Amino acid sequence: MKNYPIPRIDRDSKLHDMLLKYCRISYGDIWIDKKNKHKVGCLDSNNLIDLKKMFGHKKATLALHDPPYNMVAFQESDADEFVEWSKGWIDNSKMFMQKDSSLYVWLGADQKNHFQPFAEFILMLKNTGFKSRSFITMRNQRGYGTQQNWMSIRQELLYYTLGNPEFNIESVYTDIPKVVKGYYKEVAGKKTENLERSKSDNIRSGNVWIDIQQVFHLLDENVNGCFAQKPLKAIKRVIDVSSSKGDLVIDFFAHSGTTLLASEILERQCYTTDIDPIYCEISIRRLENFRNTGNLGWQNTNPFEEEIKNNKELRKYLKEKYSLEY
Ligand SMILES: C[S@@+](CC[C@H](N)C(=O)[O-])C[C@H]1O[C@@H](n2cnc3c(N)ncnc32)[C@H](O)[C@@H]1O
Repeated sequence: MKNYPIPRIDRDSKLHDMLLKYCRISYGDIWIDKKNKHKVGCLDSNNLIDLKKMFGHKKATLALHDPPYNMVAFQESDADEFVEWSKGWIDNSKMFMQKDSSLYVWLGADQKNHFQPFAEFILMLKNTGFKSRSFITMRNQRGYGTQQNWMSIRQELLYYTLGNPEFNIESVYTDIPKVVKGYYKEVAGKKTENLERSKSDNIRSGNVWIDIQQVFHLLDENVNGCFAQKPLKAIKRVIDVSSSKGDLVIDFFAHSGTTLLASEILERQCYTTDIDPIYCEISIRRLENFRNTGNLGWQNTNPFEEEIKNNKELRKYLKEKYSLEY
């Protein structure tokens, strides 16, 4: 079996720079998918002029954003700065959304620091024209946790809308079977158990999602080199519920390209951006790799396997620094 991992690219600027030459787009460029007309732009979420070049007159049914918090850009900064920046891309997103459309935002809450930037962020959204709809929590268990606090296994997902967008109720069922029966309702003089009355044999996800596995290295969808991948199942659920085939889905923070891949699988069109050419390239390769092999990620290898094998300098670097043999 293959075993060609790479470390987190964001933490190693030398590796990052050595991989840059393999990226087909650089800052300001937009890649257009010939087959299904998806677009990947190496753009800044806060640069409206550049975003307009990508969108033209197209508008999205669904915006699904996963901004960086507690990462490179905001490591030292406080919540106010993050939220001021976020106001920029939220306003930009709205510019490219239909009058009836949905907005989902993944957001962390730092429990060691007044749960920031959560409160600041939702207050900011009050004045943007979006209507709050739900506050989803995804169970995000990674392994063993602290012995001195509640293990942190939650990931927040905010759901807002403009106008009156679709909500496809048949897509909200999990794959968890209903096992508990109960006679808690009499219908037309007859006691029926809840399984008989319900539409499905599976439980509904509601706004606490307990059926989704956090991405880790043994999963087919794992993308080595990335560090903030969202589970495909979660992204697919959002796309399924809040858009239809052929609709435009947008994501300003592509990273490993999960929204792009989920859009391809569910036959939506996706426009996605990332400020870093490396993550644009990874997103494009993830789509291409899926089309060529059916794989959802690179479980035992990485998006740059071939280039690394053919580059003496890269091989030497990975061997010396990380004891990785190619
Ligand atoms: C949390 S990750 C997104 C993860 C993604 N949902 C996935 O499943 O892979 C955030 C990404 O935003 C990108 N980013 C940071 N600032 C940006 C900006 N101003 N415009 C566009 N992308 C940005 C980072 O390079 C990083 O790849």
